[in-house]
Amino acid sequence: MKPDNLIPWIRKYIPSKLGDVTGQDSAIEQMREFAGDFRKQKKKAVLLHGPSGTGKTASVHALANEVGLEIIEVNAGDVRNKEQIIKIVGSAARQMSLFSKGKIILLDEIDGLSGTKDRGGIPAVVQIIKDSAYPIFLTAQNPWDKKFNSLRKNAQLVEFSPLSHKDVAQVLTKICKKENIETEEGSLITLGRRCAGDMRAAINDLQTIFIRQGKITKKAIDDLGERNQTDTIIEALMKIFKSTDPNITITALDNVDEDLDTAMLWIDENLPKEYDKPEDLARAYDMLSRADVFRRRIKRWQHWRFLVYINALISAGVAVSKDEKYRKFVQYKPTGRILKMWWAKQKNMKKKAISQKIAMHTHTSTREMIKNIDYLRVIFKNNKDMADAITEEIGLDKEEVSWLRK
Ligand SMILES: Nc1ncnc2c1ncn2[C@@H]1O[C@H](COP(=O)(O)OP(=O)(O)OP(=O)(O)O)[C@@H](O)[C@H]1O
Ligand SMILES: [Mg+2]
Repeated sequence: MKPDNLIPWIRKYIPSKLGDVTGQDSAIEQMREFAGDFRKQKKKAVLLHGPSGTGKTASVHALANEVGLEIIEVNAGDVRNKEQIIKIVGSAARQMSLFSKGKIILLDEIDGLSGTKDRGGIPAVVQIIKDSAYPIFLTAQNPWDKKFNSLRKNAQLVEFSPLSHKDVAQVLTKICKKENIETEEGSLITLGRRCAGDMRAAINDLQTIFIRQGKITKKAIDDLGERNQTDTIIEALMKIFKSTDPNITITALDNVDEDLDTAMLWIDENLPKEYDKPEDLARAYDMLSRADVFRRRIKRWQHWRFLVYINALISAGVAVSKDEKYRKFVQYKPTGRILKMWWAKQKNMKKKAISQKIAMHTHTSTREMIKNIDYLRVIFKNNKDMADAITEEIGLDKEEVSWLRK
């Protein structure tokens, strides 16, 4: 695998100008108008809203890039209270910089901000908007929450719709052309249908299939499993995160298709978005880390009865780690780690395959060979004749040779 393939395609193919954002023409038009004529606008901010993976965040970056504006980006999940918001966003919004051409401010994923007067994330944002010298973009999945009432009066609403399967397929086709990937007729439309309007999911699936199979086929798409599985894991997360009752939460993961390893990754990814209090977070992560200890014991010693402990720790354990439940909306997201783990595993598989071949020819064990494979890599880097001889003798293929040379 070329190192090039290790860049997630959702980053590699992020739209570099607004024209590359597919299927959101009306939203893009409104963004252009707003930014182009910012001084005349009554409302000094735009609230981009719509489901996950439809291009909200990417469009703001594309706009900044196209017009050559500096972008000040803050993810609302990283700021906890009014003081922090004012400190970070407020000062950026007021400061005129002498040298830069201009800037836009992106306050991303504001669903998690609190609307109350005292901790007041949202009132602070409204105040910043009123005083801002620069265009402000906000993104949210659900702008209709009551807590956004005052914000909606001060920001134009721009809707990002779920993408049609044709739009998704169009972007996938472009990527496949650029990457020179063979695709079975109709397979990209199938992928487009299956991702339910979410371009990020579709591109991630495309890359996963390509890494696994080297080409895109309908069979490979089927093998990925149904995406609606994520619904059940999301329901399970809701149960665990939104309840403190161990009796309810202990069964949360029972009907989920994902195995416990994967469930742990989902919890790990979303926990910090849900639990705000440091004490809660510390206790919950302690549960996860204990579960992880059991997980490794199972791997090493096959003590499968530990599975019940893992289940209890990551469901009821995580649930009772909070003093009380959080009344806020969080859009739970799949973990980015699964794809990364795939790559890591993929690399290890190559190592194992080569070691197996050599072990067969030299009458050693594969395990022993894995330990010594670095010597072989030194040979392949420094001694071409010897490397060629070994390649021929053992019957290594091109990819294996390039892995050894790397
Ligand atoms: N309309 C689109 N056209 C082209 N590419 C897109 C589009 N929407 C999303 N993408 C791709 O998907 C990736 C994720 O999109 P983006 O981060 O903008 O989603 P989002 O709407 O902000 O989702 P979330 O609500 O989860 O933050 C982008 O980096 C880009 O590669
Ligand atoms: Mg986003």
